[in-house]
This record gives sequence, structure tokens and C-alpha cells, in this order.
Amino acid sequence: DETRITIAIDGPAAAGKGTISKAVAQQLGFAHLDTGLLYRAVGAKTLSGAEAVDAATSLQSEDLEADNLRTPEVAQAASKVAVIAEVRAALVDFQRAFARRLGGAVLDGRDIGTVICPNADVKLFVTASAEVRAERRYLELSGNGLDVSRDEVLADVKARDERDMNRAEAPLKPADDAVLIDTSNLTIEEAVDMALATIKSRRQ
Ligand code: CDP
Ligand code: CDP
Repeated sequence: DETRITIAIDGPAAAGKGTISKAVAQQLGFAHLDTGLLYRAVGAKTLSGAEAVDAATSLQSEDLEADNLRTPEVAQAASKVAVIAEVRAALVDFQRAFARRLGGAVLDGRDIGTVICPNADVKLFVTASAEVRAERRYLELSGNGLDVSRDEVLADVKARDERDMNRAEAPLKPADDAVLIDTSNLTIEEAVDMALATIKSRRQ
């Protein structure tokens, strides 16, 4: 199969990008890349003393399998390294190569439709209210045994949203040709169905 379809899924923290991306990739038989993991891996390295640009330029695929990447501390560190232009630049080629792979690819992040893959075949911008997103992330983290409070998680989500939207380099915003999906009042199944229907209608 010679398909080279690229689907870009962007949006703020805990909007449901990853959940939708995984389901869409599975349904369509495409590969999926969670680009947030690249920034989380670089952020985690800075927490253990590495310099951010060095960490980004020397990033290895094993680094993406470290087991602490989902913590709120690493998420904050990720959003701090993500403002650095040289860090972002070091991660571009890997993401673009992934997007071009045979068989189709789904990439989710903050700047996929705007910077990494401006020519993506379909662009989705997945959002939900900050309160709904924080509650979902709280349930996820506490369900995984992390000792977090609702207030902490909401503060983390809001701080990252602010930093991600207001940075000079590749700020979080919908591409002009992105389709918006607000998942605030949707179940996972409804959100995935809406994404699949949008992809089907956009991909002629
Ligand atoms: O990738 P992103 O940070 O945007 O969000 P996620 O990790 O896919 O989703 C955050 C949490 O919200 C997960 O625990 C999902 O199961 C849950 N969720 C959702 O993604 N969509 C809904 N409509 C309802 C809940
Ligand atoms: O899962 P969640 O949406 O909470 O976060 P993530 O997607 O793992 O991203 C962690 C952080 O990495 C974000 O807050 C952004 O600062 C940064 N990031 C980015 O700048 N560009 C991307 N394409 C993906 C993530």
C-alpha cells in the first residue's frame, strides 16, 4: 500500500488528542507518534541536570521509554524546554520523517498542523474546557497511583496552556484549515467517531 496520508492532531493538555490519535491510527492502520513524548523526554533529562539543547540534539529512541515521563513535574519541564527554538529545531527532522512514512501517519502535539506538517491531509484541533481537561488528567494520574490533588493538576494544565499559547516559537493555535473538535461534552467513543467522520469527509 503506497498511502502517504498525514493526519495532524493538535490541542491543549489533556484535551483527548492522544486517545483520539491512537484510536484513529488503529482504525486506519496508520502509525502514531505522540510528539509530546519528545518534549517530555528532553524535559526529564533537564530535571536530572542535562542542558536542554544538548538533551534535544542527543535524544535517543530509548529515552522515549523512560518510565517517569507522564508525571506533572516532567510535563512542566517539557513545556519549559519547548519554548527554546533550538530544542524545537532539533526535533523537527524526526517528526517530519515519521509523517512521511509509508502506510500513513497520525501525529499529535501542539504545532503539527502549523509548523511540522503544514501540508497535512487532515488537521484536527481538539479542545475542551480547562476544568474538564484537568478533571480527566486528575482521574488518569490518580488512577495510576500518583499522589496529586485536583487543584495541582488544574494549575499545571493552566500554566502549560499559558506557556504553550504565548511562546514566540510555534505557539499552540489552530491552523487556519484545522477542524475544531470540542470534547468537553463528548464520551471517548463520540470524540473518536467525530474525528473519523471528519477525516473521511476531508480525505478525498
Ligand atoms: O493527549 P491529550 O493530553 O490531549 O489527552 P489524552 O491523554 O488523550 O486524554 C486525557 C484523558 O481524558 C484520558 O484519560 C482519556 O481517557 C480522557 N477522556 C478523553 O480523552 N476524551 C473524552 N471524551 C473523555 C475522557
Ligand atoms: O499529554 P499532554 O497534552 O498533557 O502533554 P504533551 O502532549 O505530552 O506535551 C507536553 C508539553 O510538550 C506541552 O505542554 C508542550 O509545551 C510541549 N509540546 C510542544 O511544545 N509541541 C508539541 N508538538 C508537543 C508537545
